[in-house]
Amino acid sequence: MEKIKTILNEEIRKKGYISISRFMEISLSDPKEGYYVNQKPLGKAGDFITAPDMTQIFGEVIGAWSADIINKIKSKSLFQIIDLGGGRGTLLKDIKRVIKNDNISFGFLEINKNLMINQKEALPEASHYKNISDIPNSPTIFIGNEFLDVFPINQYIKINKIWQEVFITTSNNRLHYCYNNIEDKILFEEHKRNFPDEVDFFEVNTMIKKVITDISFFLKRNNGICLFIDYGYSDGYGNTLQAIKNHKYVNPLSFPGVSDLTSHINFSHIINETKNLGMNFFGPTTQRNFLIKLGALERLKILKKSTNSEKIKKDLEKGLNRIIENSQMGELFKVCAISPKTKLIPEGFD
Ligand SMILES: C[S@@+](CC[C@H](N)C(=O)[O-])C[C@H]1O[C@@H](n2cnc3c(N)ncnc32)[C@H](O)[C@@H]1O
Repeated sequence: MEKIKTILNEEIRKKGYISISRFMEISLSDPKEGYYVNQKPLGKAGDFITAPDMTQIFGEVIGAWSADIINKIKSKSLFQIIDLGGGRGTLLKDIKRVIKNDNISFGFLEINKNLMINQKEALPEASHYKNISDIPNSPTIFIGNEFLDVFPINQYIKINKIWQEVFITTSNNRLHYCYNNIEDKILFEEHKRNFPDEVDFFEVNTMIKKVITDISFFLKRNNGICLFIDYGYSDGYGNTLQAIKNHKYVNPLSFPGVSDLTSHINFSHIINETKNLGMNFFGPTTQRNFLIKLGALERLKILKKSTNSEKIKKDLEKGLNRIIENSQMGELFKVCAISPKTKLIPEGFD
């Protein structure tokens, strides 16, 4: 953490402050010291646990959804399934088990070397890519579970009727927030017009446009679909920057490089980018609705029948409840999909 603090302090010294997006970029993705480059974020021994590692039903249901897409698209070319930010590889492994199709290849888009090792163990035949442009041309299903939330955000606040940007500065060796003139006025204006006049604070995820554009062009060339599952909102605008360390929320400025920094996804932002690119958009629907519509409860019944162990039955129920109960992840997590303008209608959305 000391090394990353030195990097941050050096950058802050240049202007007196840095944007929140630059703070997140350095803390999460610095090529040597970044959290997502270096640390072991996921699992019980890490900082947080995600849906695929809570229950196999998550990946199995998405596997059945993917099989249906492949069936509907009926491409003569071979399909590939790419997990965007593949975590420990559990999701893709569960998807593969359900799909049972030898003519599909699998890949991970990943920057974390520790997770790449986990992913190789989970699915030895899968390929690894660092950028979307490295992925071979072929009909593709992209899956991004808790992928977009890792990207940097800017925050804007109206003080005494004047819009300012939230920055980070340092004093007495302690990072803290400050406000100053907006750095990227074009980006600010582009997003401000999407919020009601009475709004006095909003955030912009600075990478969503690029990610959605890269994926859209890829899918227009090759056909396929991209599924995103993430926590977020369609019409909110509060401060959602958060940090997690050892499964506990901590101050986002207190542990740069060694805590997970994320923000909630503004699904309206994805809808706008998708429309501008002439793509189809499906959703957003809640994770609960999506998984139940796709048969998560029936899958639970089948799995419970396949064991005599009461403990395994209880664990299966508990795992599914964590991802579909509204008080847990069911309501906060939303699902959406984007595809080129074809007749494809993916299951799971109204
Ligand atoms: C919150 S985790 C989610 C992991 C996984 N999808 C899951 O559900 O368990 C974010 C994932 O995105 C990866 N990641 C972060 N920044 C990335 C980037 N710029 N490009 C590709 N992957 C990235 C992380 O290393 C990690 O695998």
